[in-house]
Amino acid sequence: MPTTDARGYPVTNAAAAERDIFEKALGEFQTYTGDPVATIESALAVQPDFLLGHVMRAHLMLTTTERGLADEVAKSLAAAVGVARHGTEREQMHLEAAQMWASGDIDAASSKLFDLTVRYPKDALALQVGHLSDFYLGNAGMLRDRVASALPAWDAADPGYHALLGMHAFGLEECGAYRAAEEVGRRAVDLNPKDSWAIHAVAHVIEMEGRQQDGIDWMGSRVPDWSVDNFFAVHNWWHWALYHLDLGGIEKVLQFYDNHIRAERSEVVLDMLDASAMLWRLTLLGVDVGDRWQELADCWAPLVEDGFYSFNDTHAMMAFVGAGRPDLAKANLARLEAVAGGSNTNAGMAGEVGVPVARAINAFGEARYDDVIEALLSTRYIAHRFGGSNAQRDILAWTLVEAALRAGRFELAEALCHQRLAQKPTSLQNWQMAARACDGLGHGADAARAQQRVREIGAAAGSPI
Ligand SMILES: [Fe+2]
Repeated sequence: MPTTDARGYPVTNAAAAERDIFEKALGEFQTYTGDPVATIESALAVQPDFLLGHVMRAHLMLTTTERGLADEVAKSLAAAVGVARHGTEREQMHLEAAQMWASGDIDAASSKLFDLTVRYPKDALALQVGHLSDFYLGNAGMLRDRVASALPAWDAADPGYHALLGMHAFGLEECGAYRAAEEVGRRAVDLNPKDSWAIHAVAHVIEMEGRQQDGIDWMGSRVPDWSVDNFFAVHNWWHWALYHLDLGGIEKVLQFYDNHIRAERSEVVLDMLDASAMLWRLTLLGVDVGDRWQELADCWAPLVEDGFYSFNDTHAMMAFVGAGRPDLAKANLARLEAVAGGSNTNAGMAGEVGVPVARAINAFGEARYDDVIEALLSTRYIAHRFGGSNAQRDILAWTLVEAALRAGRFELAEALCHQRLAQKPTSLQNWQMAARACDGLGHGADAARAQQRVREIGAAAGSPI
């Protein structure tokens, strides 16, 4: 009798002990807790022919979007190829998907992982990796639909069911189905309070609906569940800080930045990305962030010519511009432009989104605000193609408004503010920008009304204005 995983699928070259370690690593991956790479390596140390163990190690590293892990990914894939002839169809499909991703064809990997889900709907690893591929590809429809395809095959008692609900919640949220997303996300958290992806999915709903105090309560009431021993902690601190930012709590945001978002001075790309995203928002607001940009730019500097994933490169660009490092900004942009001429998934992302966004950020740093407007007006509605979430990509729309204000193009700025306020009338920052636009147009009464909303939101939140 072959060993089977916890959902009944055969696992090649693994005894029950290795299977159990695989399940532990999978559980860590699903909740972003512990160290799933170290965990699966402990199984491989005992059983070097554990095919799915090698593939899982590759999947785990590929989904960090770190070029620096490419050699380790290659080692895992080589080991897997060496034993693949013994593997099942499912295991071989996993190997093919990892090989496609490693070769730079994330689109093909994502499709292969969906083929796996169609054929083996209870393959939790395929769903987990596939969901992350959808995130990096900015494919909102698939973030929702991949998981929805598999859910009816699952029983609520199956191990890891909470993770499916958490992923489905996030997909629903990215598609704008906020009520369903919050209901499903809360159900996932009820099943497993440490499901930080599900906690995060609900945080996204609250962010998009502009329910800042709800968000502060939601994150604040479960800090140990998502912040301790969690790969995703910095990103969730970033989400919490966004609520304070919207309420005008700049001091609070700086405290969050220093004590949590940047406390470890992490060189993990996903952590540096959140730091860039927060400091850039503060820079748009004209906040003096001291030497924070310099520290962050120093950490991004070794990746100046990374060219691995455009979403990362544009966030590196924010740090280079914020720190006043034109040498690094120039090298970063040149690399992105070169990458855009290639043929893999990231080449498409760079050409369509990465290059215009990087040019816009660079132009902002040089006070060429009309160039910012030209680049972002035409790019922001296709920006999902370089991945990330709606909340993350809002930085582009925000940069655009600020550029319009600084360029003195107040009609455009007012129109853009109307767009933002239609989505989130509870944001102090949106009203502040609207007041500036109205001022610029000489619409005194409208400016006064907008200022009044700024004061009301700030007073209700206890933020100094
Ligand atoms: Fe997020």
